[in-house]
Amino acid sequence: MTDMTTTTVAKAAPVLTATGVTMRFGGLTAVRSVDLDVHPGEIVGLIGPNGAGKTTFFNCLTGLYVPTEGRVAYRGTVLPPKPHLVTQAGIARTFQNIRLFANMTVLENVLVGRHTRTKEGLWSALLRGPGFKRAEAASKARAMELLEFTGLAAKADHLSRNLPYGEQRKLEIARALASDPGLLLLDEPTAGMNPQETRATEELVFAIRDTGTAVLVIEHDMRFIFNLCDRVAVLVQGEKLVEGSSDVVQSDERVIAAYLGTPFEGAPGAEEAAAVEAAEDQAAGRATHARTEDGQ
Ligand SMILES: Nc1ncnc2c1ncn2[C@@H]1O[C@H](COP(=O)(O)OP(=O)(O)O)[C@@H](O)[C@H]1O
Ligand SMILES: [Mg+2]
Repeated sequence: MTDMTTTTVAKAAPVLTATGVTMRFGGLTAVRSVDLDVHPGEIVGLIGPNGAGKTTFFNCLTGLYVPTEGRVAYRGTVLPPKPHLVTQAGIARTFQNIRLFANMTVLENVLVGRHTRTKEGLWSALLRGPGFKRAEAASKARAMELLEFTGLAAKADHLSRNLPYGEQRKLEIARALASDPGLLLLDEPTAGMNPQETRATEELVFAIRDTGTAVLVIEHDMRFIFNLCDRVAVLVQGEKLVEGSSDVVQSDERVIAAYLGTPFEGAPGAEEAAAVEAAEDQAAGRATHARTEDGQ
């Protein structure tokens, strides 16, 4: 359903509930106590300057990292931090850097993404019995459907490494969709794309949402994010600074400051910055004072 009102979206039980997610690497806290919900039918954006912890947060959601603290639940069930179990539960993702099987065809890449949803085991595959053949045919049909959906059907038999960059990104999305996810995580899906490809990706994300898959997307392109998302969360230095509708986030002076690099009151790290500034002022004051004394 495309025309879901905000009220229905807000009332539905969330597909994703991240609670107090913290990720530390030695002394560095990359993600600090982040809460985030995604509801069915929603497209939620995650933005923030480089190094803010966005990818690390995705890695915590998908079981690639075991968060130092906090928990991640899919449709109310806490997820074990194991990537294949997270995919099986219903969360799929694409990566910031394209990860395709370069020497496989476009269709084969999607079939790889399909394997979590096929029940046929190893022996069945080796013996190529009737069960396997049926499952294989069904998988192929579903993979072709997804290639139609993403506009890649004509290139099903091409090697993925021969696709232009924009189509490789699309193929990554098709492969992620092959696991029939309830939630799709996209990490910078338009990175390196020209405006036309970005526009096409926007349409694709809307279409995915319309099929009933909620989307959480990291992106640097602000126009893309604010146009696409029902809600946007801003990460700065690992902390969620602001969350709200595109309009609210877009006009929040703290967000503008975070992107322009101006310190603002209450910013993570602002205390330290203020202390440094005060010390510098004091030193400068002493220097001026010393010069005045010299001059006398
Ligand atoms: N595996 C890791 N080990 C140590 N530090 C990491 C690791 N992954 C990310 N970081 C650090 O965590 C911080 C956040 O990085 P990242 O999540 O990639 O940011 P973003 O995606 O917002 O640009 C950075 O300081 C980065 O260097
Ligand atoms: Mg990143």
